[in-house]
Amino acid sequence: MRHGFYWLMIMLLSACSTDQPSADAPVGVLADSGMVVTAHPLASQVGIAILRQGGNAFDAAVAVQFALAVCYPRAGNISGGGFALCYTSEGEGHALDFREVAPAAAHRDMFLDAKGEPRKEASTLGCLAVGVPATVDGMVRLHQRLGSLPWASLVEPAIALARQGVVLTEFEVTKLNENRADIRRANLHVPFLCKPDDAPWVVGDTIVYEDLAKTLEAIRDRGRAGFYEGEVAMRLLAEIQRGKGILRQEDLDSYEARWREPLRGDFRGCQVLTMPPSSSGGIALLQLLKASEALDWKALGHNSADAAHYMTEFERRVYADRAEHLGDADFYPVPTDMLLDSAYIARRMQDINPERKTDSQQIKPGKVKHITGKFETTHFSITDRHGNAVAVTTTLNGNYGCKVVVEGGGFFLNNEMDDFSIKPGHPNQFGLVGAEANAIAPGKRMLSSMTPTILVRDRKPLLVLGTPGGSTIITSVYQVILNAVAHDMGIQAAVNARRFHSQWLPDTIFYEDRAFEHAVMKQLSHRGHALKRNPSASLGKVEAIWRHPDGRWEGAADHTRGDDTALGY
Ligand code: DON
Repeated sequence: MRHGFYWLMIMLLSACSTDQPSADAPVGVLADSGMVVTAHPLASQVGIAILRQGGNAFDAAVAVQFALAVCYPRAGNISGGGFALCYTSEGEGHALDFREVAPAAAHRDMFLDAKGEPRKEASTLGCLAVGVPATVDGMVRLHQRLGSLPWASLVEPAIALARQGVVLTEFEVTKLNENRADIRRANLHVPFLCKPDDAPWVVGDTIVYEDLAKTLEAIRDRGRAGFYEGEVAMRLLAEIQRGKGILRQEDLDSYEARWREPLRGDFRGCQVLTMPPSSSGGIALLQLLKASEALDWKALGHNSADAAHYMTEFERRVYADRAEHLGDADFYPVPTDMLLDSAYIARRMQDINPERKTDSQQIKPGKVKHITGKFETTHFSITDRHGNAVAVTTTLNGNYGCKVVVEGGGFFLNNEMDDFSIKPGHPNQFGLVGAEANAIAPGKRMLSSMTPTILVRDRKPLLVLGTPGGSTIITSVYQVILNAVAHDMGIQAAVNARRFHSQWLPDTIFYEDRAFEHAVMKQLSHRGHALKRNPSASLGKVEAIWRHPDGRWEGAADHTRGDDTALGY
């Protein structure tokens, strides 16, 4: 049935709105020269120190990536991967894909048992789950192309942090204690993030990372070779072998992060630069923004039943496309142009009924699994005095990755293999299903939802953002862009605002506490939507930077959802 839906009721808006946020909107950190927004205050301090020393945003990004591996070990990493979306003061966009790949010995059914069913936890816990670590190669390439300070000076602050020790905050204590049992289960030795007597961690405990400091010294002194060769590589491979994994030295030798062309789109007169495959996030975000362009969001109202209904209906169609069509474009012909074609998107959204949700099974069949919330990634955004901007999302995938610590190396290994579609239609830990496009193959990148994004106006960065959250990353980035650009909320309010998420399967709207008023929930139920409080308390942890018309940066950390900290100078 065609309802010719949204253009009937909505007027077309052509340019960026010039409205101001309301006077009592919360304001983030304001600064003239540079801004660093990360998930941990110590990492933000490292980044701002690099900017003050004269480093550019890309130097600061490298230093922050290594610092997060120390002070935020559940997601910060040297053995995971990620994406860096870069925009230079000359107006050039660069997208660095430092995503892990499947080892050479991987094969499409490696996580299935003799009956063809997924083996429990095989793709999430322990060494078989490990994709080829990508972060160090990624940071080396980022520094080579866009950095300006000496490499060693960017790794050094993380080494100092590791030796001096990190005092645990309440958020870190909670995560560590929640994961202690799994970390013990995954390791044959007593890993350094468990106390020998197995006592729980308490706020104020300090962890010194001596083994990690030595690993970082090797990276400082030998660059790529310090991680992928020599003692660190030997320790890593020994751990993999003990844990019956399949990663080998040839995988470490052949890993290459890739520079790609950013995807580009438009929204309300801004140019949107975002991540191409192996991220699904860029395509999905641009589809959502294209579908959203014609709506008068202010008239609909923030988190109103109408707004939530349209957003959910867009999202379920976009996530259905993701499951079918998206994967590593180096291996599979991802139909990017078709998916981003305006006429295609209009056709796709044409059957939306304003009064009634479309059943997801009607859009495309698949199995349902609820999102568990046992996962972690991290994002940071940085801008500098030259006008460079970088948005980096980086991950081990799960909290503390596959939970295995490299003995003597002091770092966790990723469990990124779970991001492949291990069996067509079988949901991964984020409830995402996939098909041929995202099947396992040696050397192939597993599909990601990470969506580092930069909005540009007048050839200058306007908004730099991204978030963790697995499948919910895309909808969190989408909501913050709508809040900031279409609702004119002010960036800190846009980040603080409570969020919701829908992803086609499961056929449910997940919401944070206070995302909807009671009457809105009733109206949504009335239109057929199933609503469920999100199992983990928060949806995403967005780190954003906004450029004001006078040139000042406003750093908006997601500090109501974590230790997230914006620092400027
Ligand atoms: O690349 C992806 O989409 C996932 N590995 C991201 C995992 C994640 O965001 C978990 N965080 N909360």
